[in-house]
Formats: sequence, structure tokens, C-alpha cells
Amino acid sequence: MGPRQGSPQLPIPILLLTLLILFSGAANEEDDEEACTASNHSHSPSPKPSPASPIIPPSSAAARSLLSMSNLDPKQLNALQSMGFSVALDPCGSPSPHDNATACDSASPFRHLISLRLSNCSSDLDLSPTALRALSTLRSLSFLRCPIPPINRLPSPLSSSLRSFSCISSFHRLSGVLLSGLHNLTELIVRDVPITASGPFVIFSQMRRLRSATVSNANLSGQIPRHWHSLDLVQLDLSLNSLKGPVPGSISVLESLESLNLSSNSLTGTLPVDIGDLIFLRNASFARNSLSGPIPETMSAMPILSHLDLSFNQFNGSVPVFISEMKLLKHLNLESNNFQGVIPFNASFIKRLEVFKIGGNSNLCYNRSLLSSKLNLGIAACDKYGLPVSPPPAKSDKDDSVSDYDYDGEDGGGGGEENAGGGHHGPNKLVLGVAIGLSCLAFLVFFLFFLSKIFG
Ligand SMILES: *[C@@H]1O[C@H](CO)[C@@H](O)[C@H](O)[C@H]1NC(C)=O
Ligand SMILES: *[C@@H]1O[C@H](CO)[C@@H](O)[C@H](O)[C@H]1NC(C)=O
Ligand SMILES: *[C@@H]1O[C@H](CO)[C@@H](O)[C@H](O)[C@H]1NC(C)=O
Ligand SMILES: *[C@@H]1O[C@H](CO)[C@@H](O)[C@H](O)[C@H]1NC(C)=O
Ligand SMILES: *[C@@H]1O[C@H](CO)[C@@H](O)[C@H](O)[C@H]1NC(C)=O
Ligand SMILES: *[C@@H]1O[C@H](CO)[C@@H](O)[C@H](O)[C@H]1NC(C)=O
Ligand SMILES: *[C@@H]1O[C@H](CO)[C@@H](O)[C@H](O)[C@H]1NC(C)=O
Ligand SMILES: *[C@@H]1O[C@H](CO)[C@@H](O)[C@H](O)[C@H]1NC(C)=O
Ligand SMILES: *[C@@H]1O[C@H](CO)[C@@H](O)[C@H](O)[C@H]1NC(C)=O
Ligand SMILES: *[C@@H]1O[C@H](CO)[C@@H](O)[C@H](O)[C@H]1NC(C)=O
Repeated sequence: MGPRQGSPQLPIPILLLTLLILFSGAANEEDDEEACTASNHSHSPSPKPSPASPIIPPSSAAARSLLSMSNLDPKQLNALQSMGFSVALDPCGSPSPHDNATACDSASPFRHLISLRLSNCSSDLDLSPTALRALSTLRSLSFLRCPIPPINRLPSPLSSSLRSFSCISSFHRLSGVLLSGLHNLTELIVRDVPITASGPFVIFSQMRRLRSATVSNANLSGQIPRHWHSLDLVQLDLSLNSLKGPVPGSISVLESLESLNLSSNSLTGTLPVDIGDLIFLRNASFARNSLSGPIPETMSAMPILSHLDLSFNQFNGSVPVFISEMKLLKHLNLESNNFQGVIPFNASFIKRLEVFKIGGNSNLCYNRSLLSSKLNLGIAACDKYGLPVSPPPAKSDKDDSVSDYDYDGEDGGGGGEENAGGGHHGPNKLVLGVAIGLSCLAFLVFFLFFLSKIFG
């Protein structure tokens, strides 16, 4: 590029060519913008409505005419209406109205609701037993931010037809009895709602088909069940509760598990050796409990583990070598435990990880001839006996794990450029950008001046 070729003797054809390129670029941008909005015309009210399709005002007359167009089972239409659901649009039409998603089957003469999602409800929404009974064709029911009074159970035809139930920041509490009645569920999500139950077994004991279960931030107490009936569980998240006691070895009967999250509870004891039987596990978090003892050797047999979080516990013993041989590991957090000895990792292993945290282990150290202090691991270097030489450098509050990979002369790979420590690329790019911008501006001013000289 030649922003500096500011000689007044520039040949006119070159300038005209530049002008042409500039203009055609601007025109292209406009075209793109139009293409974008055009693709959204069908979904959002167009800023300039075409005369061919006038927008129907949401008057009650229009609502009635649309209502009669819907061939949803009249009982279910009534139920939706009694719940204050907007039926100004056909609940079986698509896209479904607003934030409240509905889906219907294609039965005739009347279609039936198979899925209903209520979001941002007003607090006076009335879920009457009659309305709920009318909805017993639902396979999927979800509540998102519906702060309505709790219900104690769902009528039995509805509770056994549901395959998926989700309740996020809704009701003021949920009863464990209501949940336990949903015995045909394959998917359960409860988040940010306190559950009244003496333990997880109340919820899960009758669910045999469950594949994915999230009961998180639900004030759930008791212990992790020793007996499971849902042997096909793929995903289990019981994080942010008050679960006590050990992680039972029998959790290994859940042999399809891919994701296990028991973080932020009050679990104690050691990790069971049977954990190594969970060979399909990808994500495991036991963070923020009071677990202790070593990392079990059997975990070396977990071939596809990619995310392991043991942070903020009292795990001890040495950090096992086999961890560096886990081919798919991407995220390793061993922060704030009581591990001791020399960490068995070299720089190429650490660099391969997207997240690596090991600070807050005061008896742990790194071998200076294998790892640079610039890695900022948050632990001390070892002396020749393999003991920490000095207290580890105080970690700053701003915890940027990504910066850990950004050391001398090597590119972070993990995108650590926004970090102050290794930021010599960032400012350079900025300076370059500003320089190019300024030269373009100068060129433009010069160019206009030049034009005015010629034509003015
Ligand atoms: C199209 O609309 C959807 C939702 O209405 C929005 O998320 C998306 O960003 C829009 N796309 C464009 C290109 O405007
Ligand atoms: C969704 O439905 C609830 C319950 O009928 C209603 O209070 C809320 O206004 C609806 N939200 C939207 C965006 O239509
Ligand atoms: C529902 O509430 C959330 C949070 O208050 C808000 O971000 C979202 O836009 C709301 N949705 C609708 C359709 O009003
Ligand atoms: C639900 O599960 C029960 C057994 O627990 C079964 O008899 C029933 O047919 C199932 N209901 C539906 C609607 O699939
Ligand atoms: C959480 O559970 C405890 C008993 O385990 C109970 O005392 C407390 O009121 C519950 N909190 C909420 C918000 O329900
Ligand atoms: C594992 O966690 C990552 C991010 O933390 C997520 O993208 C991925 O979907 C999770 N995998 C499973 C099987 O839960
Ligand atoms: C575990 O749950 C916590 C809290 O819900 C969440 O922040 C974290 O990302 C989850 N970890 C994994 C590995 O799924
Ligand atoms: C780990 O801690 C337990 C007590 O919690 C102790 O009995 C054991 O000896 C410790 N192991 C090591 C290797 O320090
Ligand atoms: C780093 O450690 C890994 C795993 O132990 C090993 O395969 C690799 O050869 C080591 N790389 C170097 C440069 O020592
Ligand atoms: C550090 O690594 C070097 C080279 O591999 C080795 O000779 C030395 O014994 C190690 N030191 C400690 C304390 O492990």
C-alpha cells in the first residue's frame, strides 16, 4: 500500500482507479446490509411494511379469527388462555409466539401440544389443576423465570407423559415429590430453585430412563445416592448444593457418564478407585468440596478425559505422572489443594492445555531446568532436593490462567494476548492500525484537495 506517495505529480488514471475502487467497496457494503435485513423480513416486523402484506393489529377480533384458524384441541386452547397465554397467534403456527415456545403434533382433527415453554411469566399466572390435566399430551414442559406460587404435584397423566422437564429460576421452591413422580423423564433440569427433599435419592429413585440430569443451586442436602436406577445417565450435574458424605464407589455403575459435576458441595473422603471405570467421562468436576487423599491411579485408564477440576479441596500426595499422558486433556485445575513434591509436567504439556491452574499448593514446586519461572505457575521452584525454595509468588487477584502459557518468544496459542504480561503483540497491532488509518485519512484529504485543484 502506498499512503505516502503524496507527490502532486500523480498520474490521474491511478487516482480515478482508486476512486472507483473506493466507491465500489462502499456499494458492496450496502448490498450486504440489505441482504442481511432481507433474510430477517419473515421473522421481524419490517421497518417499511410492504403494501401487499399489511400487519394485522393485535385486536381481539383478529385474535378470534386466528383462534378459529388454529386446529389445536379446544380444551388445550382454553387451558393456554386460562394461563394468560397469548393466543393472538396460533400456538401451533411457526414461529411460536414471542418467548413462549409451543410445539404441536400433527394429529387430526385436532392437534395437540407436545411442548410448552413459559418464560418471564407474570407472578399471577394461574396453573390450575384443570389446565394442567388438559395438557397431558406434553412431552416437554419448561419454566424459565416464572416466579409463580409452587405446585405440589402434577396430575398423573401429565407427569407420566413428560420426557423433559426444566425449571430455572421459577416457582419459589419445588417439591421432591413432584419431581419423583416424573418417572418417564429422560431429561431433568432444575437450576436456581430450592428443592424440598431429604436427598437426591427422593428425586431419582423412580426415574429409569434419565439420560441427562441437572439439579444445580437447588439447596439440595443429603448424600449422593448409592443406588441408581437410571443406568443410562450421560450427564449428571449436582453442583452448588449442600451434599455431604463421600462420593460412593457405586457411582461407577453409571458407566455411560460423559459429564459429572459435583462441584461446590460439602463432600468429604477420598475419590473412589472405581471412578476409573467411567471410561466415557470427558468432563469431571469435584471442585470446591472437602475431598482429600490422592488422585486415584485408576484415573489413568480414563482415555477421553478432557476437563478435570479438583480445585479447592484437600487432595494430597504427589501429582501423578499419568496426567501428562492423557492425550485429550485440555483443562486441568488442581488449584488450592495440599499436593506436594515436584510437578511432573514439562513446558510442552503445559502449553498444550487451554487451562492449567496449580497455584495454592504450598508444598508443591517445579523443576527449574524443565519449566521457566515466566510461566507464573503460582508455586515455588524446587531446590535440589525437590522441595520448594521459597514461598510461592503472591498471585494477583486478577486471575488470568491464560497468561500462564505466554512466555518468552513463543506465541501463547491459547489467545493470551489480551494479557498485560505477554502483551507485546497487542500494542504493535494497535499502533499499526492507527498508523494505517491516519495515512489513509491524510491521503483522502490530499486527494480531495487535488481534485478541487483540477476541477475547481
Ligand atoms: C435476524 O433476527 C434474529 C432474531 O430475530 C437475530 O438474532 C439476528 O441477529 C438477525 N440477523 C440479522 C442479520 O439481522
Ligand atoms: C409468556 O406467557 C406468560 C404466561 O402466560 C405471560 O405472562 C408472558 O407475558 C408471556 N411472555 C411473552 C413474551 O409473551
Ligand atoms: C426475559 O427476561 C430476561 C431477563 O430479565 C430478558 O433478558 C429477556 O429479554 C426477557 N425476554 C422477553 C421475551 O421479554
Ligand atoms: C411411563 O412409564 C410407565 C412405567 O413407569 C409406563 O407404563 C408408561 O407407559 C409410560 N408412559 C408413557 C406415556 O410413555
Ligand atoms: C435450604 O435447606 C435448609 C435445610 O437443609 C433450610 O433450612 C433452608 O431454609 C433452605 N433454604 C431455602 C432458601 O429454601
Ligand atoms: C465439557 O465441558 C465443555 C466446556 O467446559 C463443554 O463445552 C462440553 O460440552 C462439555 N462436555 C460434556 C460431555 O458435557
Ligand atoms: C460445574 O458446575 C459449575 C457450577 O454450576 C460450573 O461453573 C462449571 O462450569 C461446571 N463444570 C463442568 C466441568 O461442567
Ligand atoms: C494425605 O492426608 C491424609 C489425611 O487426610 C494422610 O493420612 C495421608 O498420609 C496424606 N498423604 C500424604 C501422601 O501426605
Ligand atoms: C513432555 O512430556 C510428555 C509427556 O510426559 C512427553 O511425551 C514429551 O516427550 C515431553 N516433551 C519434552 C520436550 O520433553
Ligand atoms: C530437574 O530436572 C533435571 C533434568 O531432567 C534433573 O536432572 C533433576 O534431577 C531434576 N531436579 C529435581 C529436583 O527433580
